[in-house]
Amino acid sequence: PQRIIIDTDPGQDDAVAILLALASPEDIEVLGITAVAGNVPLNLTVLNARKVCELAGRPDVPVYAGCDRPLRKPLVTAEHVHGKTGLDGPDLPEPTMPVQAQHGVDFIIDTLRNEPEGTVTLCPLGPLTNIATAFERAPDIKSRVKRIVLMGGAYFEVGNITPAAEFNIYVDPEAAAAVFASGVPITVLPLDVTHKALVTTARNEAFRALGTEVGIAVAEMTDFFERFDREKYGSDGAPLHDPCVTAWLIRPDLFSGREINVEIEVDSPLTRGMTVADWWGVTDRPANAFFIGDLDADGFFDLLTERLARL
Ligand code: BDR
Ligand code: CA
Repeated sequence: PQRIIIDTDPGQDDAVAILLALASPEDIEVLGITAVAGNVPLNLTVLNARKVCELAGRPDVPVYAGCDRPLRKPLVTAEHVHGKTGLDGPDLPEPTMPVQAQHGVDFIIDTLRNEPEGTVTLCPLGPLTNIATAFERAPDIKSRVKRIVLMGGAYFEVGNITPAAEFNIYVDPEAAAAVFASGVPITVLPLDVTHKALVTTARNEAFRALGTEVGIAVAEMTDFFERFDREKYGSDGAPLHDPCVTAWLIRPDLFSGREINVEIEVDSPLTRGMTVADWWGVTDRPANAFFIGDLDADGFFDLLTERLARL
C-alpha cells in the first residue's frame, strides 16, 4: 500500500476522502492525519478529523493539530458551504480518541525524515499552510516526499470563492506558491475534475442504502453539503472534491490530465489565489504538476460506494 499523510480541514468532502482511505488498506496506509485551519477554525477541524476516524472504527489513527492560520493573510472560512461545525449533517458522537501532543508540522517533518526516502505521499485536502511550513522549516524533507496529491485550484472552472480562485489555494496563496515551487512531484485535483464528481440523488441513495452507520452518515453529510450547490446553482448535486485525491491514489486509471506548469497568483487583489495553469502549453515554463481534467464519474462513485460498504 501507499503510505500517506492526510492534511485536512474537515469538511464533509474531506470526511469522505478520509473514509475512502481508511476503507482501502490494500491500497493506502494512513500514517497520520494533520488538521489545518480552512473550512472552519482549527479546533473544529481537529475535532471533526477525530469524529471521522471514530466513525470509521479507527481511533488508532493519530490525529495532529497543525497551523491555525495562513502564513500571511487572515483566515477565511467556509461555513456557508459546510455549516457552523464544518461537518453539519450527521449527528456524530463526541470523540474520545486523543489529539496527539506533537504539532502537525513536526509530525510531517519527523515522518519524512524517519521513513525511507521516496515512500511517503502527502495528501493535502485544505489550505497548504502545514505543508509549506514544514518545507520552510525543514527543506531537507522536500526531496524525501514521494509525491503530493492535492485538491485545489482550477483552470476552466476558475473560482468558487472568488471569480478567479478556488478555496484551498485562495485561503493561503503564499503557502500554495511555495508548494508549487518546491520541486516535489505534484498531482492536482482541481475544480475541473471535482465538478464532475457530483453526488446526484441516485448516488446519494446508494450511500444510504448501504444501511451502515458510515453509509448513512455519508448520505447525511452529502445531503447537507449539496443543498448549497443545488440551491445556489441548480446543479445536479454537490461536487465531492476531496475524495478525488484518495480515489486517484487507488484508481488513477479513472482520471486523465496533463503535465503542465502551474503558478500561483499571490499579489493581485482581484485574482489572488488563482492557479495560472498553462493547460495549452503557451509558455516555456517547465511542468511542475500533473493537472487532472477529467474522470470517469460512474467508476468513481462505484469505487466509493463499494469501499465505504466495508466500514
Ligand atoms: C475545497 O474547499 C473546501 O471547502 C472543500 O473541502 C474542498 O477541499 C473545494 O474548493
Ligand atoms: Ca477540504
